[in-house]
Amino acid sequence: MIDLRRHNTVLVGHERYFLFQTETRWRMVHDRCPHRGGPLSLARRTPDGRRLSCPWHGTKIGVAALCRTALPMVRSGDEATVVLPGTSQDAPVSVIRRRILANLPPDADAETDPTDCNSSTGSAQPH
Ligand code: FES
Repeated sequence: MIDLRRHNTVLVGHERYFLFQTETRWRMVHDRCPHRGGPLSLARRTPDGRRLSCPWHGTKIGVAALCRTALPMVRSGDEATVVLPGTSQDAPVSVIRRRILANLPPDADAETDPTDCNSSTGSAQPH
């Protein structure tokens, strides 16, 4: 269970997932570019809003394709329950808050320095 007022990112072992907003709903998606693993949470939306432009090498990733691989998630108010991928039972799970540029509208003018994010740690219950 994740308190969405405080956290937007889940770490499962070394894999990170972030809360991503589409036109119709929120989804928990993999924070890894298919090219070389860049952080998609720091991507910008293309002007049409249909793709993310990876901050590492500029590969464009379709939002629809990203959502097709989203983790199963149920949201109720400010809480979300996420079904985590089948990893080792020993994989540590934690939740954090970090800057998610991918959720900004395409024309948003935002600070892009990822070291400027305000983060905290907590714990999540794997399901
Ligand atoms: S890692 Fe995303 S474009 Fe290279």
